[in-house]
Amino acid sequence: MINHYQALLCTHYGDWRELEVTQLERLCLKPGEVRIRVRHAGVGFAVSLFVSGKYQRKPPLPFTPGTEAAGEILELGPDVTHLRVGQRVMAALDWGAFGQEVVTQADTVYGLPDNINLADAAALPITYGTVWSSLEWGASLNSGEILLVHGASGSLGMAAVQIGRLMGATVIATASTEAKREAALKNGAHYALTSDATHLVEEIKKLCPQGGVDVVFDPVGGDLFDASVRCCAPQSRMLVIGYAGGRIPEIKTNLLLVKNISLIGFNYGLYIGWGRTDARKKFAPLVRAMIDKLLTALSREEMPLPLTQRFAFSDWENAIDTTLSRRAIGKVILDLP
Ligand SMILES: NC(=O)c1ccc[n+]([C@@H]2O[C@H](COP(=O)([O-])OP(=O)(O)OC[C@H]3O[C@@H](n4cnc5c(N)ncnc54)[C@H](OP(=O)(O)O)[C@@H]3O)[C@@H](O)[C@H]2O)c1
Repeated sequence: MINHYQALLCTHYGDWRELEVTQLERLCLKPGEVRIRVRHAGVGFAVSLFVSGKYQRKPPLPFTPGTEAAGEILELGPDVTHLRVGQRVMAALDWGAFGQEVVTQADTVYGLPDNINLADAAALPITYGTVWSSLEWGASLNSGEILLVHGASGSLGMAAVQIGRLMGATVIATASTEAKREAALKNGAHYALTSDATHLVEEIKKLCPQGGVDVVFDPVGGDLFDASVRCCAPQSRMLVIGYAGGRIPEIKTNLLLVKNISLIGFNYGLYIGWGRTDARKKFAPLVRAMIDKLLTALSREEMPLPLTQRFAFSDWENAIDTTLSRRAIGKVILDLP
């Protein structure tokens, strides 16, 4: 094993372009931890917030960003029994994915079936975990219901299109460009609309003459959220997932009351140790069962593989910029050297 490894390092909270490629020394494992040789890392929208210190959790400096990784187990803490050295795994991390190695708690590390490649797996642990759990645990999406997905070409949105379709929903996607809408349709959406909030209500009325959509998956917020409330069927559920559009919406609750609409805030972080208190151990069996279902569906080819856009580690600035500047279609993946 090498004693040093290459990684991106955040030495001060600030602009993500000030990250530095550096050599880091290995840390010793503590009980409950594993060391992973990272082959691929998922790049998420939140990276700039993490690095600027504006995210809901602030890693201690210096730290390596990146919360989704796939690779092989190099070393196990003495008390870790559900994984083995050499095993192909994916992991939901606190931070550290943008480096050749990472040490993390074993509770959020998941073994992979042989037929799922590591580059695809790096898209899964948080992005697909968030989507599956929010649709199943949060919104209780039923087969035959209508699911409206905003930001449908983004990481979470594309996963919501694929998983919503797998769960038997009729999926209506919104996205800003023709290419993005095309990608959503290819990945399982039944319909794709522009993300122009001013026309959303009338477009949904045409597609849903019975009264509206049953579930809204909203990682964008802003005007799209406001318009979505008026697209909801009686007894529908709205998942508040994120604010990629930049504005946190506010709502008059009478709109919820008159149609028995449930507004559901959903933070996957709660289940993987990112809450005010670290509850990853408590939720590990629940999360593992959900990840098993996801991996089974993928390995049986019941749903498409994640749509990914890959970048070499040396091109990390381009990878992050593509994610943040709305150019990505699907999930951006960084390939570690
Ligand atoms: N709740 C949770 O547990 C959880 C978990 C992970 C991430 N998140 C949050 O979910 C949100 C989406 O994450 P993601 O990884 O899917 O992001 P992403 O891959 O960048 O996708 C976001 C989508 O939002 C749309 N968008 C609209 N206005 C935008 C703007 N001003 N800037 C950028 N995108 C804009 C874009 O689609 P169009 O161009 O088609 O409009 C884009 O495809 C983020 O706020 C993230 O922090 C929440």
